[in-house]
Amino acid sequence: MILTCLILLYYEAVITQHTIQQILSRIDIIDIVGSFVKLKKRGTNYLGLCPFHNEKTPSFTVSPAKEIYKCFGCGKSGNSISFLMEHEKYSYVEALKWLAARYNVEVEETEVSPAVKELQQTADSLYIINSFAQKFFSDNLWNNEEGRDIGLSYLHERGFQEDIIQKFQIGYCSRDWNAFATAATTAQYNPEYLLKTGLVVLRDEKLTDNYRGRIIFPVHNQTGKIIGFGARIIGKNDRAPKYINTPENEIYVKSRILYGSYFARQAIDKADECLLVEGYTDVVSLHQAGIENVVASGGTSLTPDQLRLIKKYTNNLTIIYDGDAAGIKAALRGLDLALEEGLNVQLVLIPDKEDPDSYVRKTGAAAFREFIEGNKKDIVLFQLEVSLKDAGNDLNKKSAIVNRIAETISRLNKAEDFTKQQDYIRQCAALLSIDEEGLNALVNKFIRERIAKQENKAAASEEKNKEEASADTASQENEDILDLISKDELVERNMTRALLEFGNYSWDEQQNVARHIFFELDHYGLQELIDNKQLLHIIDTYRKWVDEGITPTPKSFLYHEDMAISTVAVGLMDTRYELSQNWKEHYDGPMPTREELYKEEVASTLTYLKIRKIKRLIIENQRDLEQADSPEDQLNLLQTHQHLKQMEIELIRDYGTVIYK
Ligand code: GTP
Ligand code: MN
Repeated sequence: MILTCLILLYYEAVITQHTIQQILSRIDIIDIVGSFVKLKKRGTNYLGLCPFHNEKTPSFTVSPAKEIYKCFGCGKSGNSISFLMEHEKYSYVEALKWLAARYNVEVEETEVSPAVKELQQTADSLYIINSFAQKFFSDNLWNNEEGRDIGLSYLHERGFQEDIIQKFQIGYCSRDWNAFATAATTAQYNPEYLLKTGLVVLRDEKLTDNYRGRIIFPVHNQTGKIIGFGARIIGKNDRAPKYINTPENEIYVKSRILYGSYFARQAIDKADECLLVEGYTDVVSLHQAGIENVVASGGTSLTPDQLRLIKKYTNNLTIIYDGDAAGIKAALRGLDLALEEGLNVQLVLIPDKEDPDSYVRKTGAAAFREFIEGNKKDIVLFQLEVSLKDAGNDLNKKSAIVNRIAETISRLNKAEDFTKQQDYIRQCAALLSIDEEGLNALVNKFIRERIAKQENKAAASEEKNKEEASADTASQENEDILDLISKDELVERNMTRALLEFGNYSWDEQQNVARHIFFELDHYGLQELIDNKQLLHIIDTYRKWVDEGITPTPKSFLYHEDMAISTVAVGLMDTRYELSQNWKEHYDGPMPTREELYKEEVASTLTYLKIRKIKRLIIENQRDLEQADSPEDQLNLLQTHQHLKQMEIELIRDYGTVIYK
C-alpha cells in the first residue's frame, strides 16, 4: 500500500515552472497534432480528420495562432497538452515529459522528499535494466543458435509471425545458468536492482538467471516503457510453473497492469470498445489477426485500478474468456465495481476448450469477429443465468439470488443509466419468473438504503451547512439588488481575457496591463463584482504568479495543469475575434487589430465593472435613505446619491466613447 502511494507520488512528480515555461515556449501545435493527424492548411487554420471520432470529411480544426484545436463534428477541443492527454492517454506530467523530450528541454523537477527521490532513482534504474534485458533477450531470440532453434522455432510453430514478435519485443532467455546475469554485471548494473527486477535470483550466493529456457514477453506501461516480464516455459513441465512473472516492485504493480494496453490504446479509442482476454498469447494472436483493441488481465479478476484504466479509453468492455469455470468466476468478481464505474460489460465465452489465441487461429480473423459480435452476453443477465442454474429448485438459494441481483441493478442508479436499469429489471424479472413491480421495489429499496448511508456520513457536516443557510436568507434581500444590476457575464469574461492576453503589454511607463488591472480591481473593490468562480480562480492564479515573480502568458493558462483552468482559458481564447478574410476585404483601408486596441479594451471592461459597482452603491444608498431617521443623515445620503449619480453619468460617457469612437 505504502509502495503504491509512493509510486503515485512518483508519477505526479512536480516539474518546475521554469521547465514548463521552456517547454511551452517551444510548443508548436501543428507539429504536435500533426504527428498524429494528417493536417492540411486552410486559410489561417489547419484541417484534418478528427482522431476522436470516425468521420469521412474533415472537421477537425487546428489554429496555430490560438494554439488550440477544435472538432466541429464531435466538439472536442483543447491545447497541445490536452491533445496528448486525450490522444495518447498521458497524464499531464507524462505529456510534459513527452514534449520535453521532443523539444530537447531538460526536465527539472521541484525538490522532492528524500524518500520519493530514492524511489525515483530506483524506478529509473529498474526501467534501464528492463530495457537492457529486453534487448538482450530479443538478441538471443534472433541471433543466437539456441535462441533460434528453440525459442524462435517454438514461436513459429505456434504461428506467430516475425513482425508481430518484433512489435511485442518478444525474446528468449537461454538455458545457460547465468548468461543474462553475467552480461548485466559486466554492464555494471547494480546486483540489488537486478534482484528487484526478478530477472535474476540468488542461488548459492550467486546471481542466477530466473527465466532460463523461457520465452520472454515484456510488459509495457502506458508510455511504452518496460515495467516487467512474463516468462513462458517451452513445452510442458509439471514441476515448473507455466509462467513466471515479475515480482511486485517499484514499477511493477500487478493491480495496475493490463498487458497490451500500450499497443491497444488507439484501437480501443477508435472502436470505443475494449476486449479483455486472459493471457499474453491471446493479446499477441489477436493483434496478428488485426484485432488490436485488446488487453489481458493475467487471468485474475479486475481491480479498481484496471477498471479505471479501461474507463480512460471507453465505457464498453467485452470480456472474452474460455468457457472454463475459473475464468468466468474471475470475470464476475469485479462486476459490481464495473457497473458502478458506469461500464457496459459484455461477456463472450469461447467454446470447446479453446482460448482466444487458439480459436482465432482455427477460425480466422473474420469468423472470430463475427463470433464475438454474435455471442455477446450482457454480464448481469449472464450472472443471473449461471446462479439460477446453480440454485436449481432450492427456494432459499433463489431468494438470495433475487436479493443479489436487485443489489447489483441498484448500483446503476445514475440518472443516465435509468433506462438501462429498467431494461435489466424487466429482463431479470422474466428470467426469475417473478413480478416486475416487485423487483422494481426491491431495487429501489437498495438504492434508498445506500442513499441513507451516504446521508448519515454527510450528517456531521450538516450542522455547518445550517449556519450557512441562515446567512443565505439574509442575503436574499441582496439578491434583489443584484438582480437590478445586470449580471452580464460577458464583461467578466472580457476582463479576464484581456488580463490573460494583454497582461504583459505595457499600460504606461510605470506598469504593465496586469498591474494596472489589479490596481483598479483593488482600489475600487471591483473583484467582488465578479460572480463566475472559474474566472476568479484564473485572476487569483495570475496574481499569485505575479507575486512569485513569474510572468504568466496566455500559454501558462492554456496549458495549466488544473484542467478546470485550462478549459476555461481555452474557452476564453476562442477564435471569435479573428476577423474573417471576407470582412477584411469588404472594408478597405487598415482595420485596427485587436492588439492595437488593447488599451481601449482593458479600459472599457474596467469602466463597465466600475459602472456596475456604482449602480450597486446607488441602490444600497437608496435603501439607507429609506431607513434614515434624522434629517442630517438624510441630507448626507442625498448628497452621496447625487455624487454617485454624477460618477455614473461620467463613467457611462467614458464607456460610450470607448465603444462608439
Ligand atoms: P499459452 O498457454 O502459451 O497460450 O498461454 P496463455 O496466456 O493462454 O496461458 P493461460 O491461458 O494458461 O493463462 C492466462 C494467463 O494467466 C497467462 O497469460 C499468465 O498471465 C497467467 N498465468 C498462467 N499460468 C501461470 C503460472 O503458472 N503462473 C503465473 N504467475 N501466472 C500464470
Ligand atoms: Mn493460450
